[in-house]
Amino acid sequence: MSRRNKIYEGKAKVLFEGPEPGTIIQYFKDDATAFNNQKKGTLSGKGVINNIISEHIFKALGDIGIPTHFIERLSMREQLIKAVEIIPVEVIIRNIAAGGICARLGLEEGTPLPRPLVEFCYKSDELNDPLIAEEHILTFGWADELEIEEITHYALRVNDFLSGLFSGIGIKLVDFKLEFGRLYEGDDYATVLADEISPDGCRLWDSKTGEKLDKDRFRRDLGGEMEAYQEVARRLGILPSADVTEIADHIKKDS
Ligand code: C5P
Repeated sequence: MSRRNKIYEGKAKVLFEGPEPGTIIQYFKDDATAFNNQKKGTLSGKGVINNIISEHIFKALGDIGIPTHFIERLSMREQLIKAVEIIPVEVIIRNIAAGGICARLGLEEGTPLPRPLVEFCYKSDELNDPLIAEEHILTFGWADELEIEEITHYALRVNDFLSGLFSGIGIKLVDFKLEFGRLYEGDDYATVLADEISPDGCRLWDSKTGEKLDKDRFRRDLGGEMEAYQEVARRLGILPSADVTEIADHIKKDS
């Protein structure tokens, strides 16, 4: 792991001071958590796979004009990113009913939604990331109207792009979570996509078999998590040739 100053340690990533002001190193861990930390585990090599999947997706989103915090991947587990102020709102986009919305609204898992649904949750581990309305965001000043408009616009563009990308490799993008941040440039700031996009924060189902290729394998004790994550990377055409578990072990020894 980097010997730089640690800024923050989250459930799946650690942030370190970057080499230049305004930069941060994002380190991907193998730790897996679910149900707001009630279930914990380690998936050997997950950080390596999520790092390359997220790099691939953030680069592709950058290429279609979506501003992101991503600068470059530095190593098997590290990315250089722009320092942003994270907006404390998690944005969930759903195409097919699964997980939280099924429990909340009594929907059957797998029911296609008539249109993509954008939901907001307040980013708070203590409160279990509660579902909120736009009104809460405005009332408590977590973001302003323009930011909400931009976030929603970007979220739907990301959804369109990723739905197509995954559909092309035989995967249904069921739902996913995005986070956004404020990138300050002088007194002004821009809204940019932040955090990561990986099977940890998406539901991905094989188009033919319906097999789950995401963190639900861990949440629901289905096993085969790393095989599923590697399958996503393999279909995206980005799996490193060496065995990922070996690479991860190698990095652990180095840290
Ligand atoms: O649990 P729920 O059905 O609301 O999750 C919707 C989507 O958002 C899932 O793909 C899940 O992996 C992701 N999510 C996340 N982090 C959270 C909550 C949800 O990545 N804190």
